[in-house]
Amino acid sequence: MDEYQKAAEMIAGSKAVAAFSGAGISAESGIPTFRDPGGLWDQFDPDEVATSGGLLKAVMRKPELIRSFFLQTVEIFEQAQPNPGHVALQVLEEMSLLKTVITQNIDNLHQEAGCTRVLEVHGNLFRGRCLNCGRKQALNKRELLARVKKFFADESGFELGGLLGIMPNCPHCRGLSRPDVVMFGEAVQQMPEAFAAAESCDLMLVLGTSGVVYPAAAIPYQARENRAQIIEINPTDNYYGSISEVYISAPSGQALPKLVDLVKDLL
Ligand code: APR
Repeated sequence: MDEYQKAAEMIAGSKAVAAFSGAGISAESGIPTFRDPGGLWDQFDPDEVATSGGLLKAVMRKPELIRSFFLQTVEIFEQAQPNPGHVALQVLEEMSLLKTVITQNIDNLHQEAGCTRVLEVHGNLFRGRCLNCGRKQALNKRELLARVKKFFADESGFELGGLLGIMPNCPHCRGLSRPDVVMFGEAVQQMPEAFAAAESCDLMLVLGTSGVVYPAAAIPYQARENRAQIIEINPTDNYYGSISEVYISAPSGQALPKLVDLVKDLL
């Protein structure tokens, strides 16, 4: 029996599937992964653009690098749409098979595909968090991207204060807000809920992650600890080979729709 058939039978026979996704699931939406050749961390130093201290330093010392990072990010997110992999997960939710998506991604694409229970352990780029009262607010994606683009398109340089002005103030206390994303060294989000979902699923789909960033990367092991079966989909490697029953070496945007069709034939 081939891997797809085996995986489809496991999914069809599951009572509670959870998905654990990384940047790979959004690669077919045009969002570069971090660690593939040519990925984001090949182009930019994560210490400079993915830590709050590093970002502030880079704004002062390397404004051009920051400009190109943000303008490139805007371009990527302006065109990014859910791909067939995201949509396939929404279909599995509609079939009452998929209960939870736990994602490391901040791109909001699982929600835009229609998944309703999405745990975002690294936050969400299109949500603001107040620096004063901590309250969170959903942001209009198009508006935010347009504000960032306008701010950085001005060649005459930019002030740090102006950077903070890109984000709308907190609607509750009018305080300054920042994107509600988890930068390196910051506390991850929704981990208790993510571990609870890992412990209550009987099958976890591990999709498009190199499994190197903890504590998120521990989530599939937590599922396995609780006797869940693991199916990994990744065209590069079987990073969770020590715990996965099935490994499908394919892009998730191709593999997941194929699996959903096979599951439908079984039900
Ligand atoms: N389908 C499935 N997997 C893919 C695809 C695809 N179309 N394209 C690439 N991949 C694989 C890559 O080969 C790689 O193994 O997805 C994986 C992505 O790994 P990373 O780039 O390391 O991304 P991720 O695992 O999500 O990183 C975790 O690191 O930088 C931090 O906060 C960031 O959330 C991120 C975390």
